[in-house]
Amino acid sequence: MSAVSLYAKASPDFDAKLTETIALLQRAAQEFSPLTQASSLGAEDMVITHLLAEHHIDCSIFVLETGMLHPQTVAMMGRIEARYARPVDAYRPVAEVAAEFVSTHGDKAMYQSVELRKACCGIRKMEPLGRALAGKKGWLTGLRREQSNARAEVQFIEHEFVGEPGARAKVNPLARWTAGDVWHFIGINNILYNPLHDEFFPSIGCAPCTRAVTLGEDIRSGRWWWEQESAKECGLHVSDGAEGQSSSISSIIPIKEVSA
Ligand code: ADX
Ligand code: SF4
Repeated sequence: MSAVSLYAKASPDFDAKLTETIALLQRAAQEFSPLTQASSLGAEDMVITHLLAEHHIDCSIFVLETGMLHPQTVAMMGRIEARYARPVDAYRPVAEVAAEFVSTHGDKAMYQSVELRKACCGIRKMEPLGRALAGKKGWLTGLRREQSNARAEVQFIEHEFVGEPGARAKVNPLARWTAGDVWHFIGINNILYNPLHDEFFPSIGCAPCTRAVTLGEDIRSGRWWWEQESAKECGLHVSDGAEGQSSSISSIIPIKEVSA
């Protein structure tokens, strides 16, 4: 069943949200240049990539190509380049470090403990993310408040490293969008999307850590499904301060000031 027919449902104020999102993208490109988009190649990120191209917004696009993505996800990079004539930069883990981790802990380490899972995310996502963001003044994400309790407070602009040499803005232009809005916009604009979305994968990450959901299940329930809800972030966006661990990007890129 097509994800568009399954999920598309515009909010009553969708047009206002879209106007707000376009204005934010244009502002971000002016105020936070060089600006880059972090794309997981999922539905939200395809909406943002489409808007960047449609409105001729100056912003690069990067993917953390963990080496564990589904082939359908990897194929999206070439599809984007063909449709929008914009390059998609892939940031990969350091090969020796990833190989050493697998030889020490096995290729199923992520299922053994939260610590090993986060160590894998550290090697395959967090370290490459640091390289992808080096020298950037702003980055765009597809985070939405509706996605989880942990994301309920996501702001449009979150200032990181305030007053420090690495100061930059994390911009979340879809913060107020619902999943219905995302799929409505994809449907009316015939936007490219990962075919896994049509196979009940509403949220897509690395292959070993993503599975299909059944109707009625939470949209993130297919991510790290064997873990407690509170642990289910890879560290790209949410600190796991409750456990006092330091695997989160917030410990690397502290969010010190937040504005709406
Ligand atoms: S995750 O932290 O649980 O993996 P999620 O899949 O919901 O995050 O994606 C949220 C946002 O994080 C995406 O919209 C995108 O901006 C960024 N992101 C997630 N995974 C990647 C990736 N592999 N490469 C680049 N950006 C990513
Ligand atoms: Fe490793 Fe899974 Fe994290 Fe991907 S999501 S980096 S496979 S633990």
